Amino acid sequence: LLDRPRDHGPARFAARHLPMKKRLGILLSGRGSNFEAIANNIDTGRLEAEIAVVISNRPEARGLEIARQRGLNAVCIPSKGLDREVYDRMVVAELRKHQVDLVCLAGFMRLLSAYFVREFNMAILNIHPGLLPSFPGLDAQHQALEHGVKVSGCTVHFVDEYLDHGPIIVQHAVPVLEDDTVETLAARILVEEHQAYTEAIRIVLSGTWRLEGRRVIIES
Ligand code: GAR
Repeated sequence: LLDRPRDHGPARFAARHLPMKKRLGILLSGRGSNFEAIANNIDTGRLEAEIAVVISNRPEARGLEIARQRGLNAVCIPSKGLDREVYDRMVVAELRKHQVDLVCLAGFMRLLSAYFVREFNMAILNIHPGLLPSFPGLDAQHQALEHGVKVSGCTVHFVDEYLDHGPIIVQHAVPVLEDDTVETLAARILVEEHQAYTEAIRIVLSGTWRLEGRRVIIES
C-alpha cells in the first residue's frame, strides 16, 4: 500500500491549481436548520465553501446530530459553568485546529467575548430573526408581534462584542399578518433566514465589500 504510485493524472493537476475553498466553522446550540440550509446550498453548488467543523455548546443539540449524519466534523464543547473567555479560548482553539476562515453563528445562544471577536476580526457572522436594530436578544419574533410591527424579517450581520449589534450585511423583510402567531411568524421568517445566510456568506467570502462606518457597502 505504501508503495502505491502517486496519481499524477488530470484530476490531481486540477486539484492543485483550484483556489482553496474557504472553510466555515458553524457554531450552534439547537435545532440547526440554518446550518442545514448552508450545508444544502454548499452541496448543490449555490455556495462555494466547505464546512470545516460544527461546534455546539449543548450536547443534545439536534444540529450536532445532523452534522454527524452528514459526515462532518461535529464537536461538543459544553459551556456550562465556564467563564466566558475560558470557554471562548477552547472554541477558538478548535476553530484554529480546523483552519476555519469564517465563523457562522447559527442559533448559537451565547454572547462572544472581546477575545473571540478580536481573534476572528470581521470574520464572524450571526443571524437574527428580526430586523435589527429592532428586537435584539431572545424571542425576537415574540417581541415583534407584541410590539405590533407590520413588517419583520431577519438580519445577517458581523459580530462584535455587543448583543446582535455589528454591521449589517443582509436583511430580508416579511409581512406580519393579522392572524399571525409567534409560530407562524417565526416559520415565515425562517424561510428567509435560510436564504439570507447563504447570501451573506457569499458576499463576505467574495471580498467585494467594504466598511464605511457601520455601513457594509457591497461593490457590484
Ligand atoms: C434562528 O431563528 C436564529 O435566527 C435564532 O435562533 C434560531 C436558530 O434556529 N437566533 C437568535 O435568536 C440569535 N439572537 P436553527 O437552530 O434552526 O438555525
